[in-house]
Amino acid sequence: MEHVGVPRQEELLKIDKMPLSIVLPTYNESQNIARLLDSIAETLPADTAAEIIVVDDNSPDGTGDIANQHAKNSGNKKLHIEVISRPDKQGLSSAILAGVQSAAGEIVVVMDGDFSHPPQTIPHMVEELQDSKYDIVVASRYVKGGSVMGWPFKRRLMSKGATKIAQVGLGIEVKDPMSGFFAFRRRIIEGVKFDAIGYKMLLEILVKAKGVRVKEVPYTFTNRAAGASKLNSSVVFDYFRAVWKLYRYGRSLGQGEKRASVRFLSKAGRFYTIGAMGLLVNYAVATLFGSLLPGLWYLYAALAGIIFSVTSNFILNKLWTFEDRDFAASKTLMQYTLFTGFSAPGAVIQLSMLYSLHGSQLISYPIALILAVMVAAVGNFLLNKKWTFREKIWS
Ligand code: GDD
Ligand code: MN
Repeated sequence: MEHVGVPRQEELLKIDKMPLSIVLPTYNESQNIARLLDSIAETLPADTAAEIIVVDDNSPDGTGDIANQHAKNSGNKKLHIEVISRPDKQGLSSAILAGVQSAAGEIVVVMDGDFSHPPQTIPHMVEELQDSKYDIVVASRYVKGGSVMGWPFKRRLMSKGATKIAQVGLGIEVKDPMSGFFAFRRRIIEGVKFDAIGYKMLLEILVKAKGVRVKEVPYTFTNRAAGASKLNSSVVFDYFRAVWKLYRYGRSLGQGEKRASVRFLSKAGRFYTIGAMGLLVNYAVATLFGSLLPGLWYLYAALAGIIFSVTSNFILNKLWTFEDRDFAASKTLMQYTLFTGFSAPGAVIQLSMLYSLHGSQLISYPIALILAVMVAAVGNFLLNKKWTFREKIWS
């Protein structure tokens, strides 16, 4: 890797803390690069010290030379232009990674070199990061106010499909994880090992950077006017490879960092295990009451079974399924009331079935129980998750 341009160390020493690095990967962008560099320079507030890192993969159309010329002739003291020239085309993500690794800025902005990403959005993105609680700001096509211009239907569809795959498969909540236009605090990727396969660097950062807070700001993606897209079938193939690797990465993580889908299923599993155990408690207690107190009305015995099992189910679900160790009286009572309320339809069914089938009690009891449980099983997990234990449904 060859570093060309103004000697970098020297330049950086003049600025004690570089606030901003802009990483610009280019391959055959000779028609865009000079204008883009100027446009970025114009758009940054005059007092911002910043560097632009162009990462060029030996573009046959001479993009690298143009960028170097521009760097030499640039009279802007506050804006340092650096060109990393790599010997051959190694892919977009890998170019971004090279740029990010050489970036000195506290904040790093990544954008395409073909004017699809409007430089005018950069100050807004940086503002959102500075002094805010966010670690990544994604310029987003898919939040309110964002859009895409000039893409054919097929490309729009591909983008939406790829987005859905990332959201469902990797449990990502960001609306536009495919964005190539984003800003982040450099420290969030310290120590992270990247694969940098294919095009989608942001996706890998979202999966691998720990505990980051993400903000999306709208922008309009405009299809390039000059030059050609480098997206081809091998880029699409690389996308699937990258998602698969990230999926495996997610699975290899520890308990606390599991994806939402995995956590959801494991909680549902615990909830229904407890439900099945509750069925036994329900039945055992009712039978016990019936035999201990022979004169007791059979519906009272059934009710005792219900009260016992609902109570033990509540305690077990609080402790095990929802890992809630807070037993403060008022909160617990409230939860217990809700939990019982959600169990009530099942209980009513159980009791009324018993009543209507009175006489063939011995056969009907287990059937009534199972029916009651089926009714309870349909919605109770979600109702209790959301309302009793105040969790998001999908987590
Ligand atoms: N150094 C280097 N090496 N740069 C590359 C390479 C490479 O192998 N491949 C592409 N680039 C550069 C291009 O020159 C351009 O500046 C930028 O990466 C994006 O490439 P395009 O070919 O213009 O991509 P696109 O417009 O089809 O796709 C863009 O779509 C996304 C939105 O879904 C991606 O580039 C994303 O960045 C963007 O968010
Ligand atoms: Mn493009």
